[in-house]
Amino acid sequence: MKRKLEVFLLVVLVGMALAVLVMTTGPGKRTELSISQTHSPDSLLGKKETTVRNVTNDTVTYTIKWVDGSAKMQERSLKVGEIDRIMTSRPLEIIFKRVGRSASFELTAGSPYSFRYDENDLLQIYDGSHGRDDAVDLAPYVTTPMNVVEKMLEMAEVDKEDVIFDIGCGDGRIVITAARNFGAKGVGIDIDPRRIEESRAGALEAGVAHLVEFRLGDATKMDMTTATVVTMYLLPESNALLVPQLEKLRPGAYVVSHNYSIPGWEHKEVESADIADITGKNHSIFLYKK
Ligand SMILES: C[S@@+](CC[C@H](N)C(=O)[O-])C[C@H]1O[C@@H](n2cnc3c(N)ncnc32)[C@H](O)[C@@H]1O
Repeated sequence: MKRKLEVFLLVVLVGMALAVLVMTTGPGKRTELSISQTHSPDSLLGKKETTVRNVTNDTVTYTIKWVDGSAKMQERSLKVGEIDRIMTSRPLEIIFKRVGRSASFELTAGSPYSFRYDENDLLQIYDGSHGRDDAVDLAPYVTTPMNVVEKMLEMAEVDKEDVIFDIGCGDGRIVITAARNFGAKGVGIDIDPRRIEESRAGALEAGVAHLVEFRLGDATKMDMTTATVVTMYLLPESNALLVPQLEKLRPGAYVVSHNYSIPGWEHKEVESADIADITGKNHSIFLYKK
């Protein structure tokens, strides 16, 4: 009897040892290993697409290097209008020539950027709003301070008869404020789905969802002819690009532009104003009448 028990215990122990061996070296573990072998280390770390668009009138040459020195420096060049797409999980440094000297800028993985000229006509890199090939990047997402929004609406004498279009509406604050304060109808257009979601949520919260509408898409391809007031906070070259659409507005329609004037519309300018935000920073507002 004792002998039988010893044999039984021996069988159980050998069985348990075999089970441990299978668990540590068996198919389960091998599968895990093969997953990490078939995926590159970068995809496991979550590579994201960083885009750089050339919005200048010349080919731009530049160098990119990884901030942590983990990969070799790369010389690159971008023709006018082209977009460079860099898959990376780590921050990058971009180095380019500015008035004969090297300028450098850190790029965040997964964000869009643009080469543009600054106010002195010098090459500079700016945040962008998207890296889509099929649409122009009119401006990065920066909001108009609320007191400037109110001044823009006051200058355009907005009332409940108006239909306001905001080109590149961001979080929708301009059309939402016009609806809440004056009962005006509004259409906000933005290419970034996150902005459209925020705008719709903002309109619901402000109780004006029945007065405003938010359209996702490229504003340069949208019809705005029903607008009585158009607002914009974009870059100077974007204002110039939108002139053909603004020319189609009905006579008497107002266009209010934050910070940048509209090239070629000097004769339509009726008023301009400067206003400080709560940090003391100055904002210019240009009012035009079609
Ligand atoms: C400077 S923000 C202005 C936001 C808002 N209008 C304000 O004044 O607070 C510019 C906006 O334009 C949007 N945008 C950029 N390119 C666009 C395009 N092609 N079509 C529509 N919207 C665009 C960006 O996503 C961004 O939200």
